[in-house]
Amino acid sequence: MRFSVITIFPEFFDSPLSCGLLSKAREKGLVDFSFINPRDHSADKHHNVDDRPYGGGPGMVMAVDPLRRALDTLAPGTRVLMLSPKGRPLTQALARDLAGAGELALLCGRYEGIDARLEELYAIEPVSVGDFVLNGGETGALCLIEAVSRLIPDFMGKDESADEESFSSGLLEYPHYTRPEEYEGLKVPEVLASGHHGRIAAWRREQSLETTLALRPDILATATLSDEDISHLKGLDRTRAGRNLFVALVHYPVENKSGQTITTSLTNLDLHDIARVSCTYGLGGYFVCTPVADQQELARTLIGHWREGYGLKANPDRGTALGRVRVVGFLEDAIAEITDRTGRRPKVVTSSAKAGNMTYAQVAGWLEEDAVLLVLGTGHGLRREVLAGADGMLRAIRFMDRYNHLSVRSAASIMVDRLLGDVG
Ligand SMILES: C[S@@+](CC[C@H](N)C(=O)[O-])C[C@H]1O[C@@H](n2cnc3c(N)ncnc32)[C@H](O)[C@@H]1O
Repeated sequence: MRFSVITIFPEFFDSPLSCGLLSKAREKGLVDFSFINPRDHSADKHHNVDDRPYGGGPGMVMAVDPLRRALDTLAPGTRVLMLSPKGRPLTQALARDLAGAGELALLCGRYEGIDARLEELYAIEPVSVGDFVLNGGETGALCLIEAVSRLIPDFMGKDESADEESFSSGLLEYPHYTRPEEYEGLKVPEVLASGHHGRIAAWRREQSLETTLALRPDILATATLSDEDISHLKGLDRTRAGRNLFVALVHYPVENKSGQTITTSLTNLDLHDIARVSCTYGLGGYFVCTPVADQQELARTLIGHWREGYGLKANPDRGTALGRVRVVGFLEDAIAEITDRTGRRPKVVTSSAKAGNMTYAQVAGWLEEDAVLLVLGTGHGLRREVLAGADGMLRAIRFMDRYNHLSVRSAASIMVDRLLGDVG
């Protein structure tokens, strides 16, 4: 594999490429590096490669011409990657893909970045090493070089393998231990000393699954999981944030089309579907708020049918879900009950199809520590006084689109999944 690095600081690479496995791989001829310095291709007598940005602003921009000339020296067919914060994230999958290319060029920006026209002149693939800003592309290029080189056959010694590492199977790796067997009272897990290969493999797989679920649930969505993996994940308690989330469906006070205050009727669909979502995601509870006595009675009759009546025999799971529903008069009653149960007033987060000042990530952050009551309106939405009394309002679903008319039960499902959804 040949890496051509386009950089104004070739010396940056001297030491990292001269030690450890990379140095051995160079000696074995598995990897080879060449450096192209854009300064050597500058038409400017001072070898300048940067200039002031059009439109003003701080810093300098790398000019297109020296970089274009530098790229012109590459062998035809070379895949050109540009290190850039806006790029496609560098992942194990991308590294695997790149390891199959014979020749890669890595373009390292400096200053405020590179004149955008270069990307119009060349097929360049931007690659990012993370959502942060570095001084230049060189450190990112080193990350890419290491991640790709490790996947080249024979790069790793025969005792080491890239197959079992984090991300290779779509999961984080299991924990490692070496001697001593006990250190400051901390023992190596017994199974690892058992010599039983089957049990060790099973333990390692479970540890991988648990570590991934705890630290990077987002990557579980694309991991290949066996039936055993899924049954192990099902058995884990991952509901702390879920238990902290409560949902209230408010039938009064809400608005009608003309902005008048009304009380809406409850619907069987909302009762069932939000109860099922609450149960599936392990929520702390689901409150239906209506001050109207016969509506409360109706809710209890419907719930009773599935909890105790014929429905219990026909479909006990539905009774389990509806067992989550608490029928109360007002939102304040729901808040008081959660305060009683958890010992602290919940943070109240309203929702609306029109507005919202909180992102899902912010509310998910609250859920790590606090109880949160997510308030859903019926009719044409919650009354202004309910919105005003809340700690925040969740950003509307599809806030960038014109048509935005979801049923409250659909909205509840989407919101709960955005707040708690993990395994995809
Ligand atoms: C100071 S940065 C320029 C950042 C640019 N003004 C911006 O806000 O996106 C200079 C160079 O560092 C490299 N760089 C910075 N952060 C990076 C990242 N997260 N991933 C890959 N390259 C990065 C790029 O080559 C970039 O052109």
